[in-house]
Amino acid sequence: MTDYSELARALDERIAAATDLAALEAIRVEALGKSGSISELLKSLGRMSPDERREQGPLINGLRDGVAAHIARRKAALEAAELDAKLAAEQVDLSLPPPPARRGRVHPTMQVLDEMIAVFADLGFSLAEGPDIEDDFHNFTALNFPPKHPAREMHDTFWLPENERGERKLLRTHTSPVQIRTMQRLNEKLPGWIANGPPQNNGQPPIRVIVPGRTYRSDSDATHTPMFHQMEGLVIDRAIHMGHLKWTLDQFIARYFETPLVETRFRPHHFPFTEPSAEMDVKCERSGAEIKIGQGNDWLEIVGCGMVHPNVLRNCGLDPDVWQGFAFGFGIDRLGMLKYGVPDLRDMFSSDVRWLEHYGFSAFQAPNGSTGLS
Ligand code: PHE
Repeated sequence: MTDYSELARALDERIAAATDLAALEAIRVEALGKSGSISELLKSLGRMSPDERREQGPLINGLRDGVAAHIARRKAALEAAELDAKLAAEQVDLSLPPPPARRGRVHPTMQVLDEMIAVFADLGFSLAEGPDIEDDFHNFTALNFPPKHPAREMHDTFWLPENERGERKLLRTHTSPVQIRTMQRLNEKLPGWIANGPPQNNGQPPIRVIVPGRTYRSDSDATHTPMFHQMEGLVIDRAIHMGHLKWTLDQFIARYFETPLVETRFRPHHFPFTEPSAEMDVKCERSGAEIKIGQGNDWLEIVGCGMVHPNVLRNCGLDPDVWQGFAFGFGIDRLGMLKYGVPDLRDMFSSDVRWLEHYGFSAFQAPNGSTGLS
């Protein structure tokens, strides 16, 4: 009887000693490969007598199974060790300081917008919005611009190409069309644009809204850009008068410019949608390019305003014998230029990161101007 224990022990020793997968594979080929030592033994079974085969068969097969199992165990162990080594080698040192993060800045217009909203929210106004692409009705007709009236030209309107229905839409030239949308919304269940919820107050005023948004006119110089931002205000109730308008604007100007000393005046003006109309000027002091608001001997135009024209109320289904109110329209960017000393409006929208680093605001700073002043 042949004893295979010597071969088994020699292979076991070599398998246990194999230090990498390549060495192990060499041993496997040598023993179990096509002409490996154990494969040859298996082949020899064919040449044996039946009796011999009955005896040797189980021994050789057992030898093969044992060696194959040992090789598989060793292979798993070597693979695990290889993975461990790889993980250790590729470890990332998380204690290294990261490269300095670039902080974004809040654009001055957005900072000013936050400040304005904070002041008007304190005064009890809510927010409304409307679309940038308007129709002639909301931008002009309902606001009492007569058809073909030169006042329509005054605005240097960007007109869109005529659509299939023969209408020409436009980029709104002011936020005043949202006056119309807000008043209409009292009566009609208009979905969408007005941000402050479903029709309110059983279809009746009071209304007290501000409307911030983008506006467009074909114009470009140091104080004009084709796109700019306005904030509309609209207050409608039974007995609103110009005294309320003046008080509201005075409050706003004092808080926004963080000065209790504001002297303002109404200067007569014309807007088709207000009667009487005015521009409000604020006392200021100019020294060179710098303007100080609230004191001095100069006047600075700051906002257009007036009492809502009866035709506008009528166009929105409100009876002007019952309801009246005021409206105003601020240039948001312009207020930012005045407060934060930006000399050229065009820079505001040139997307120059260096400019934004300089004139922008930290995102983690509470907007000022909202509280602290009485
Ligand atoms: N819409 C006017 C403008 O853009 C401003 C304004 C608004 C005037 C509301 C009066 C009332 O010039």
